[in-house]
Amino acid sequence: MSYLKQKMLTDSVVVNENVVKVDSFLNHQLDPVVLKEISKEFVEYFKEKEITKIMTIEASGIAPAILVASEFDVPMLFAKKAEPSTMKNDDQYSTDVHSFTKNTTSRVLVSTKYLSPDDKVLIIDDFLANGEAALGLMDLVEQAGGETVGIGICVEKSFQPGRQKLEDKGVDVFSIARIASLANNEISFVEEE
Ligand code: G4P
Repeated sequence: MSYLKQKMLTDSVVVNENVVKVDSFLNHQLDPVVLKEISKEFVEYFKEKEITKIMTIEASGIAPAILVASEFDVPMLFAKKAEPSTMKNDDQYSTDVHSFTKNTTSRVLVSTKYLSPDDKVLIIDDFLANGEAALGLMDLVEQAGGETVGIGICVEKSFQPGRQKLEDKGVDVFSIARIASLANNEISFVEEE
């Protein structure tokens, strides 16, 4: 069993049948051992792909994404959820991302300087729930004329529709911990083949 899955069984908190809290190692305090193990798994899975850039969305995707970028020796670009004053004069690609969890829609953006038609992008994120964040990132890559070559997810809630929506777009989705259910305050993972 992967290190992340073991860590989830020992250190996460099931909040309710839809939400699991991973604040002690992934979402608030960060455990470098967990992050390094996560990065190794992504690199092993995606190593045959030609990748020019790693992309994520702030905030919690940044930590795993930078470790993966370091392994592939490519830049890591994170989409911003608010426009900083320093980007006001920059040309931007932007897209709306709806969060079903929070019931909010936010406009996320990147400077056009950092995505090009030559880019082959691997998207990395901490959670996959409804897939909206990943679809938004794919949209930014598409606006630039680039290609999303894969999506790497730390924790996938497989009982929610995110994976299906991404696979419907024809993209290769690899998740390290796939949660089948959080019922009865217990994490059960999707059986590995
Ligand atoms: P989606 O992108 O797959 O559609 O997910 P959704 O809108 O449902 O989730 C919105 C936010 O909630 C995301 O973080 C996502 O990582 C997080 N999230 C979703 N389900 C869970 C869960 O079961 N546990 C935890 N811990 N987080 C969950 P965000 O708002 O972008 O926050 P952050 O990246 O700034 O931490």
